[in-house]
Amino acid sequence: MVCVEWRSSIIEIPQTPVLICPFSLLKDPGSYGFSVEMNGEQVEGFVVRSDGQCFAYRNSCPHTGAPLDWVEHQFLDVEGALIQCAVHDARFLIETGQCVFGPCPGASLEALPIRVQDDNIYLLNEA
Ligand code: FES
Repeated sequence: MVCVEWRSSIIEIPQTPVLICPFSLLKDPGSYGFSVEMNGEQVEGFVVRSDGQCFAYRNSCPHTGAPLDWVEHQFLDVEGALIQCAVHDARFLIETGQCVFGPCPGASLEALPIRVQDDNIYLLNEA
């Protein structure tokens, strides 16, 4: 949200959600990495589709801050059941981003706010 002064009153202008990709682009289960600009910040993240639902996280492992993908757009383990970090093999729950295996148990990926509308996945303003 951006606040501006207009004729001596403060009004709020909602930020436009940023398109990430079409929902139908993702397999189920499947993942997709993205880099978009929002509020002057470059957001590196990924979305995961699983059981018809969609989740988004920053592409930064809580262990070292490294990107998680081992191949472009590939963030899931071979079973498609967990998010997997390519660096030291940590595994995270798709639904919550919580680490359940590896060097950072209990730590979590940073969730990003998204909305799925008309077959598109949008990143929402975090403020
Ligand atoms: S950087 Fe992800 S598990 Fe170490």
